[in-house]
Amino acid sequence: MEIKRISVIGAGQMGSGIAQTGAQAGLDVTLVDMAEAPLQKGLERIKGNLQRDVQKGKISVQEMEAVLGRIRPVLKLEEAAAEADLVIEAVVENMEVKADVFRKLDVLCPKHAILASNTSSLPITEIAAVTKRPEKVIGMHFMNPVPVMKLVEVIRGLQTADEVFAAVEQLAKRMGKVPVEVNDFPGFVSNRVLMPMINEAIYAVYEGVATPEAVDQVMKLGMNHPMGPLTLADFIGLDTCLYIMEILYEGFGDSKYRPCPLLRKYVKAGWLGRKSGRGFYTYE
Ligand code: NAI
Repeated sequence: MEIKRISVIGAGQMGSGIAQTGAQAGLDVTLVDMAEAPLQKGLERIKGNLQRDVQKGKISVQEMEAVLGRIRPVLKLEEAAAEADLVIEAVVENMEVKADVFRKLDVLCPKHAILASNTSSLPITEIAAVTKRPEKVIGMHFMNPVPVMKLVEVIRGLQTADEVFAAVEQLAKRMGKVPVEVNDFPGFVSNRVLMPMINEAIYAVYEGVATPEAVDQVMKLGMNHPMGPLTLADFIGLDTCLYIMEILYEGFGDSKYRPCPLLRKYVKAGWLGRKSGRGFYTYE
């Protein structure tokens, strides 16, 4: 199962990074979004990243142009699906939206095509079940920012075929990443371990154990984390953190995953972290 052409659905933060990384690995990439504005924004983000690499002397201008030349931006899902060997879906984290995209992809894509989702928390098995090719559906969970971060969690749904897993594992390596095999359980491994730590850090602030600055200092200086958990939570977005905690809480039915009331309060107040200008810290 050789993968030459990939299509990326959604040109947002993650989709644009996946498209860039694929094109840098020499793949033909079709990038689709549902409107011109987000598609252009995604392309600008890719150009900006590559221009920075040129300035730093990491790549030449010719290489930058060759990479950009391998990315074909389109607005119609039909066009993105038609010739793809592999589709990587990176639309919003919402089951209904993803199910709708996968139903359409299943009809539009060639029979051999693998359908992957970059979901950070939704069950791959459930996404696969809306298609008539559940054995060809898999999770390909890239980390943000995609061009920089090495990890790809490769998530096997209940019905994912071994050869599909092998093809995706090989592709991740070709994209310069390190694939790690994970089974389909709430939060996979990354968020199952990370989010309860962030949630516990929020509890420490909520219970008056320490200030956000102090919690972050302890984890940075004491545990050698490059970034404290509350700074990281602000980066990820507090709404996203709450959403993933809810998935863990619901999925396992275990009180150890209950979201901290302070996290809920901040999200209700619209304090979502960096993107809203205020979370555990304030931003210009
Ligand atoms: P984003 O909001 O930056 O991008 C989503 C893009 O999808 C938008 O440009 C939107 O216009 C487009 N879109 C929505 N519905 C569409 C449709 N039906 N057809 C085509 N395009 C459509 O979101 P982001 O952060 O890139 O996240 C995308 C996915 O990646 C989510 O599932 C998220 O959970 C996952 N993820 C996010 C990470 C992060 O740190 N932001 C890390 C790892 C995974």
